[in-house]
Amino acid sequence: MKEKSITIGKAYEEYFPIGVAVGNLQMTVEQQELLKHFKSLTAENGMKFDALQPCEGKFDFSYGDALTDLARKNHQKMRGHTLVWHQQTPAWVFVDDKGERASRELALLRMEKHIDTVVRHFSQAVYCWDVVNEAIEDRGSEFLRKSPWLACIGEDYIGRAFEIAHRADSKCALFYNDYNNERPEKRDKTYRLLKELKESNIPVHGVGIQGHFDIRDEQLIPNLKTALDCYAELDLQIQITELDVSMYAFPDFRSDVLVPTKEMQERQGEVYCQLFELLRQYREVITGVTLWGTRDSVSWRNDFPVPGRKDWPLLFKEDSQPKEFYARLLEF
Ligand code: GLA
Repeated sequence: MKEKSITIGKAYEEYFPIGVAVGNLQMTVEQQELLKHFKSLTAENGMKFDALQPCEGKFDFSYGDALTDLARKNHQKMRGHTLVWHQQTPAWVFVDDKGERASRELALLRMEKHIDTVVRHFSQAVYCWDVVNEAIEDRGSEFLRKSPWLACIGEDYIGRAFEIAHRADSKCALFYNDYNNERPEKRDKTYRLLKELKESNIPVHGVGIQGHFDIRDEQLIPNLKTALDCYAELDLQIQITELDVSMYAFPDFRSDVLVPTKEMQERQGEVYCQLFELLRQYREVITGVTLWGTRDSVSWRNDFPVPGRKDWPLLFKEDSQPKEFYARLLEF
């Protein structure tokens, strides 16, 4: 049994680093204090393609540098998120100077320039990168998502991205990251992708399970357990990279709940406790668990899928107080 006053980062220190995503860097002292509960930081948006290279060849590292400085000051690790994704990537990447779809050569060149510049820039600070994000199709038997990267370059864009990142920093752990990949449909496709990459000697070292979970998913724990076993079989590290536990199952678009009910709060506590119990059992393969925000008021869930609807998916309440189950998560 651990002391009540310790933080989640400290309590899990010998298991895996518990991290948090950071948005706006203009923080109150209270918000800065909350960050200290965690042992690793991720930029929520500030290190995505559109933030780092909004115009071709014009890189802006100001946010990333400020965040890595903060991590260094707080003795925290730093995850890189994310290099190649179909969202938050500027339109210029995929068109040529005639306004037509960029050729394979041009798109590859741009991908290479971006990954190489960014990974080298942050190589002293960042210990792992989500190299490719969300490349797998959600439904049906389609394998890869029809993203602009796929359309311009072809299926090997994924492997190429990992090779370029590895060349830029051979010590960095390189991750494939996606959502719902603990569920059977996507898990099997993810397994296939990672197996193919490994068999082709592509330097992929880990799989990120984003972990945008909800309190209604009865299958969460058994699905996650099977997924952890399955990815571990490929000899990969596993991280939960964007953890939050929504009060709503998707697609539940109700917007009439103004404060979380007692039932919701209790259920959320149970889910978090069961989840961390399972993760602790897999400490051999899990190398990080990151919460997607500190307190409820900053969560992206407040705008997704229903703009302006409040959700309460994180460990700290809107007023920065820890939720009732926080202390229970630390008791093991
Ligand atoms: C995905 C991305 C994250 C973030 C969330 C929503 O999971 O990987 O960077 O944008 O969507 O906030």
